[in-house]
Amino acid sequence: MEHEHSTFEPHIVAFVCNWCTYTGADLAGTSRLPMATHVRIVRLPCTGRIDPLFVLKAFERGADGVIVSGCHPGDCHYAEGNYHARRRFRLFKELLDFTGIDASRVTFSWVSASQGQKWAEVVNATTARIRALGPFSAYPRATAGAGEGGVA
Ligand code: FES
Repeated sequence: MEHEHSTFEPHIVAFVCNWCTYTGADLAGTSRLPMATHVRIVRLPCTGRIDPLFVLKAFERGADGVIVSGCHPGDCHYAEGNYHARRRFRLFKELLDFTGIDASRVTFSWVSASQGQKWAEVVNATTARIRALGPFSAYPRATAGAGEGGVA
């Protein structure tokens, strides 16, 4: 098992807001900061638009970890979107156990447009944590067979 994890390259999906974290991630890239290459970014207008179902769908489609990130509290370009997101994801994390997903597979962070370094740190820390946890297979296993006489 240890050997499996040492060669395991995790798939991580990041749902980020367009105005802060996406720009911060872009800055990290253009600054050529050393960063793990395991994260695929999905850009949305605001964290308030990130439905927890997107996170579940990512796991269902093979993600091993998910990052949700946006503007710092008080900096949301739609005023309160990130406050809604923070409340929503606090509850969502409590529900994750119920779905069989270890809550530590989901990272919630605030990264501003000027924080390329912080984005690189979030990516590297998340990649290291997911690599240590190993591949995620519980959700796809639980839903395997759905629609084939199972739960539709
Ligand atoms: Fe960035 Fe709302 S616009 S969190």
